[in-house]
Amino acid sequence: MTAVIAIDGPSASGKGTVAARVAAALGMDYLDSGALYRLTALAAQQQNLAWDDEAAVAGVAAALDVVFADSQILLKGVDVSAAIRQEIIGMGASQVAKHPQVRTALLARQQAFAGERGLVADGRDMGSVVFPDAALKIFLTATAEERARRRALQLNIDLASEQYQAIVNDIKQRDFNDINRSVAPLQQLPDAYLLDTTELSIENAVKKVLEWYQQ
Ligand code: CDP
Repeated sequence: MTAVIAIDGPSASGKGTVAARVAAALGMDYLDSGALYRLTALAAQQQNLAWDDEAAVAGVAAALDVVFADSQILLKGVDVSAAIRQEIIGMGASQVAKHPQVRTALLARQQAFAGERGLVADGRDMGSVVFPDAALKIFLTATAEERARRRALQLNIDLASEQYQAIVNDIKQRDFNDINRSVAPLQQLPDAYLLDTTELSIENAVKKVLEWYQQ
């Protein structure tokens, strides 16, 4: 059976970076499942559909014409890798991810990423729903303040500013949405290793995952 490493955790925890580096170190494929929710939100917006129209958005998710090619993500042949990272699309992703029909529509597509090379998958429900039999499950987190600090640094925002406070509030709101939704809520599974990166560099977080995998 294909080896899968499931890395779940809250918004801006750095799990995408860690997951991609672990995949590269092990020669495995990488699945950024959040990108699929972002693509669904973007495609729905392009078709003028409301993100709260569950049936219509699930139809969009089922029909997504997407290709992941190295650093590019092509939606109907157009590179949307920057477009899906916009703040507004992140908010749309959070809304469409609440719908059970959307999650179901994306399930098989996510599972199909597990090929011969093995897979490192990052998201919220990789260990609970998509790959419950994963060889290794990690819950990667950091305090909301530290996650906000990292995001602010990326965006060149002063940590003493109101903008930083807005980022902290946004991250706390997303945590609340992820943890409290009725389907596939973000949770720390009993069979997952806890990796708190509040005081851990990316390099050391990657090392830790590789150690656990090789145990
Ligand atoms: O980390 P961030 O919230 O910025 O974004 P992301 O990981 O790209 O995920 C985008 C949205 O998709 C989030 O709001 C998650 O709630 C949702 N998502 C999900 O529900 N399940 C997943 N496996 C991955 C992401």
